[in-house]
Amino acid sequence: MLKIRKTTVLVAGCLLTLSAASYAASDWLKGTPEQQLKSLAELQPGLGTVMIEYANRFTTMYYAANGGNWGMADYQLKEMREIQEVGETTRPGRAKMLKSFESDNLDKLAGTIKGKDLKKFNATFKETVTACNGCHVANDFAFIKYQLPKASPSPTSAKP
Ligand code: HEC
Repeated sequence: MLKIRKTTVLVAGCLLTLSAASYAASDWLKGTPEQQLKSLAELQPGLGTVMIEYANRFTTMYYAANGGNWGMADYQLKEMREIQEVGETTRPGRAKMLKSFESDNLDKLAGTIKGKDLKKFNATFKETVTACNGCHVANDFAFIKYQLPKASPSPTSAKP
């Protein structure tokens, strides 16, 4: 009985400590509301972070299409467009190039996905990879070269 009570006290103590910690979680946010907003804005993902998701979804899209999961391929492409918007917002200097990449390449890929045309999809995918890496070269990031991984990074690309 005493043992149980001790445990109860311990658990309650832990919970108290936890809730105290969560109250303190935003204590780092200092200054006026404007300064706090600026601190938060500076934490928004830049293009490097966006590109990690971009590449991940791009690869998942490839394996989804090649596994016959066209719904997933379509979804990943849409999510690429979504995350691209974050990059366009936080790095406005790159927005124009990103937008033209989207209309030249992603729109074309979308057409092949809609038509469930694997041959056309794979040919367009290859062209798109060249365009991805072309943009890296044009922006002095020639050492960033997308190469198709041997497997999907996602456990969701296979046909359900
Ligand atoms: C508008 C130009 C542009 C296009 C188009 C573009 N990228 Fe990028 N990418 C960049 C830039 C610039 C960086 C470096 C980001 C930075 O550090 O600011 C980058 C970085 C990356 C990285 C490295 C991320 C990291 O930090 O590890 C990967 C991976 C990547 N891109 C993949 C792709 C893929 C895949 C595509 C095509 C589907 C693509 N990119 C299209 C400009 C572009």
